Amino acid sequence: MHVFINILVFLHLAALVFGMGAGIALIRLGPYYGQVGEEARAKLFILGRTFGKTANISLVVLWVSGILAVWLKYGGVGGLSGWFWAKMVLVVILSGSIGMGSAAYRKFVAGDMGASARAAMAGRINLVAGMGVILCAVFAFA
Ligand code: HEM
Repeated sequence: MHVFINILVFLHLAALVFGMGAGIALIRLGPYYGQVGEEARAKLFILGRTFGKTANISLVVLWVSGILAVWLKYGGVGGLSGWFWAKMVLVVILSGSIGMGSAAYRKFVAGDMGASARAAMAGRINLVAGMGVILCAVFAFA
């Protein structure tokens, strides 16, 4: 069981690296959509969809590995502090914002130019909420 729990924590941290990396890449991609021609923009959309998929899969891995770690390593939420609950509130905000950002990005790819501002706003919320989650996680578990 000890090795399994360590693998869960490894997966949790690996998903954090992939998720934040993909999120930052998406933010950095944003300004280029308006600066390039049709052909290059189509390639940016392919990159954007790949990073978006990476972020979404990472979020699922974070939820699954996190819930399993709470259950198997800490025996449930009973002994966890307020920092854990603060983390959970931010995780829910982050998850909602990732969902809204993905929906806006799909609309942007389909030609809805107004959706690009919503996708960019979601990206900024993701970054702030994600950093808050990490801060709370360190105080909750370190
Ligand atoms: C979705 C975004 C999430 C991020 C960015 C994140 C981030 C982190 C980080 C950075 C740590 C390491 C803290 C440390 O050891 O000092 C951690 C640990 C942990 N997280 Fe998350 N987490 C997320 C979601 C979740 C969820 C949804 C749960 C559970 C419902 C969860 C449960 C845990 C647990 C139990 C640990 C402690 C692992 C250990 O004992 O080493 N996390 N998280």
